[in-house]
Order: sequence, then structure tokens, then C-alpha cells
Amino acid sequence: MFDATNVSYDTQIPNNVGLSGDRRVLKALERWHPGYIDWWKNLGPEGFQEHMVYLRTAVSVDPKGWARFDYVKMPEYRWGILLAPQVEGRTIPFGQHYGEPVWQEVPGEYRAMLRRLIVIQGDTEPASVEQQRHLGATAPSLYDLRNLFQVNVEEGRHLWAMVYLLHKYFGADGREEADGLLQRQSGSAEAPRMLGAFNEATPDWLSFFMFTFFTDRDGKMQLESLAQSGFDPLSRTCRFMLTEEAHHMFVGETGVGRTIQRTCEAMVQAGIEDPYDIDRIRALGVIDLPTIQKKLNLHFSLSLDLFGAEVSTNAANAFNAGIKGRYQETKIDDDHKLTNATYPVAEFKDGRIEIVDMPALSAINMRLRDDYVRDAAGGVKRWNAIIAKTGMAFEMKLPHEAFNRKIGTFAPANVTPAGEVLNADAWNAGRDTWLPSASDGEFIASLMKPETEPGKYAGWIASPKIGIDNKPGDFEYVKLHES
Ligand SMILES: [Fe+2]
Ligand SMILES: [Fe+2]
Repeated sequence: MFDATNVSYDTQIPNNVGLSGDRRVLKALERWHPGYIDWWKNLGPEGFQEHMVYLRTAVSVDPKGWARFDYVKMPEYRWGILLAPQVEGRTIPFGQHYGEPVWQEVPGEYRAMLRRLIVIQGDTEPASVEQQRHLGATAPSLYDLRNLFQVNVEEGRHLWAMVYLLHKYFGADGREEADGLLQRQSGSAEAPRMLGAFNEATPDWLSFFMFTFFTDRDGKMQLESLAQSGFDPLSRTCRFMLTEEAHHMFVGETGVGRTIQRTCEAMVQAGIEDPYDIDRIRALGVIDLPTIQKKLNLHFSLSLDLFGAEVSTNAANAFNAGIKGRYQETKIDDDHKLTNATYPVAEFKDGRIEIVDMPALSAINMRLRDDYVRDAAGGVKRWNAIIAKTGMAFEMKLPHEAFNRKIGTFAPANVTPAGEVLNADAWNAGRDTWLPSASDGEFIASLMKPETEPGKYAGWIASPKIGIDNKPGDFEYVKLHES
């Protein structure tokens, strides 16, 4: 009997799923492994493959002590397969099978749907690593460099998590899909990643922080709703992934927060009160608040597109089937079947934004998106507290949900961040005041100079309050001069 809490290292792949007793899956994963390492070396972090990085590795699924910190070369990181412990007597918490025992095997009728959801989730994991692969060259500190790599190796582990499910439960077509996850590539013309935001460039560190704040948070919401799944192995996988995901959003929130803080402090020091005195502020070597707001607008709108169409038959079917639930499903006080329930849905019709009541079943995406917006708003509030503390008169805001959308009801609409509907010409004329312009990008790029001395930070970003794993300020998170 294997121990589901502690990780077994008796195979090449650390795991708590009893892999050594499952020859077929072990073999399949060992065959997949070299391709993964090739992918990591070719499309993973560029230029730091031989350096020692102070990383956490998941060694258990015990919430009190699941990770261990140590120096490791990234290609030697122990990517493992870890599922949260099985909950005794768990039942399907929603949909037409509500109250029935959860499935330990894939129900035949939902096989295609499940495989599709696992592949879409799996596709996002390596995609972000690819998007972020050039950032190491311009890290504002060794602390930030290490955090980038921590996020990267964990996205790598999330890929493993999805690949395990494909190999274990989906036979030959699962193997094929697992191979496909290493064949598509972010931004590629021939074989792009499956979702739009995962084919966008991450050109600078402010983008990286916005991405981990907004896009990883979409990941969190997707994982939360899959963690409710009646397919128990998927639920357990996603539950454990969520423990790691929290750090990714920490990196994003504190990264943007430290950028904001440094800007405000520099303005105070220079006696600049007007946040729109952009040339003078930029001359201080910091990113002006209006430009940070533009980056926020861009990443928020890209992330909203990840939730799909507001009204969706696929989402209704997945809910009905008991495959993908709502955020915190078990805490919601209703019938968990949504037989007669309605939900208010935004709609763009005749040039106007309206809210209409729709069957709650078909509005599952909209509801998850609303939960996401609430979750993201909490972080924006904390950013504004940083600004307010310095006495600056400026507030970061989430743009209107109809702003800059490519998917769903708002795709054809031209809406400002304040929610005003414009014609295409007027919108295009305003574009550069709402979204980062080419010259904004050039300015930010000009600040992206690496700072590699332990304990030092680039001039555009404040130092963090505490070190990773409580390390002192001058801790050498990445050893650049020895390997
Ligand atoms: Fe992930
Ligand atoms: Fe993540």
C-alpha cells in the first residue's frame, strides 16, 4: 500500500499515485519524459538552465509542510505527480448526478468532454513558460528572477499533472493528446496554443506581473471549478495545483504593488504631485501610474476572454454532466442543478449594453467570470492602498468588462474602459490612451536592465517586504557565478 501523503521517489517521477505499481502508466510517462525535457531546454527559461536556483519542490500534499526549498538546476527539478488526498465518501456536488458517488474512472458518455477540458487546461501550462522564456535576461533582482523560475517549474509540473490524467485514463488518444501538448507553441503561426491570451507576448516584467495577477487568476478560477468535478482524479489534481497557484498570484500582486510603490516614492521624493506629469515622472526612471493602468486594462481584458462566451451550451453541458462546477460550488446555497434558476448576463444589442436574465445553466461562464472580477478587484484595492499611503491622488481601476474584448457578446463592440459605447473611429482614436502604445512599450523596455547583485533592485521597483522562505535581504536566490 503506498502512502498518499508522502511522495515516493522510487520511480524517475516523484508521485503519490502509486506509479511504481502501475507499469502501463509508468512506461507511458517515462516515454513522454525525454520529450518534456527537450521542450524545457528548448522553450523553457532561456540562458539559466545550468544555474543553481533556490526553488521549492512539492514533497507532500500535507497542507502543513508540502514543499521543500533548496538549490537545484532547473532541468533537474523533480517534477512530480501529486493528487490531493481522496476524500472518503465524496459525492458529486452538482448537476444531474448530484449526490451520487464520485467517479474514479471516466464515465464513457463524458469521455470526450473530459478529455477536451483536460487538454485545454494542460495547454495553458507550458504556454506561459514559453511566453516568459526571455524574461530572465532582464530580471530586476535575483529575488524576482527566482520567482519567475518558481512559477515556470510549477507550470511545468501542472503540465505533468494533466499529462498523467491523459495517460492514466484516456488510453491511446490520451497519449496522442499528451504529445500534442509539447507540439503546439505559444505564438506559433502553424501550431499555436489553444487560447488567445496564451499566444500573446510577455515583453517585459510589468507584463509578467500583470499576467501572473490576471491570467494565473483565470487559471485559479478554472482549477477551482474543475476541483469540484465529479471525476475524482481531476478534482484531486486541481485541488493540489491550487496550493501552488496561490504563489503565482502573490508574485503578480506584489510585483505590480512594488512597481506602484517605487513610482509613488520617486514622485514624492522629486516633489511631483500630478500623476499625469508623465515626462518628468519617466525621467526619474520609474513607470508612471497611467501607464501601469494601461497595462492593467490590457491584461484584464485578455483574461476576461479566457472565460469564453457569456452564454454557452458547452458550459451548461459540463455543469449538467457533473464535470465542471461553479466557484466554491459546495458553499452555494441552492439546488446545485439550476433547473429553473436564472442569472443576469451582460449582452451587447443594438449598440447598447444590457443586462438580461438567462437560464443559469447556460450562464455558467458568466458567473465564473463575475467571481473572477470580484477576486481581482480585491488586489486592485490593495494596490490603491499603496498609492493612498504615499498621498498620491490616483486610483487604479478595473476597466469595464466590455472594453477591448475579442470573445463573446462584446467582441464587435467599441467600448471605453469607463463603459461608454463608441463608433470604431472614435475608439481607435482613443486606443493609445487606454492601452499601452508602442512608445509606452519602448519606454518600459528601456528600464528593463538586469540587476544581478544579491539584495539589489532595479530602480523601477521596490524591494519586497520579506524574502522567500524567510531568507535575508542579500540572499543569493540564483547563483549566477557558479554552477
Ligand atoms: Fe498552472
Ligand atoms: Fe500559475
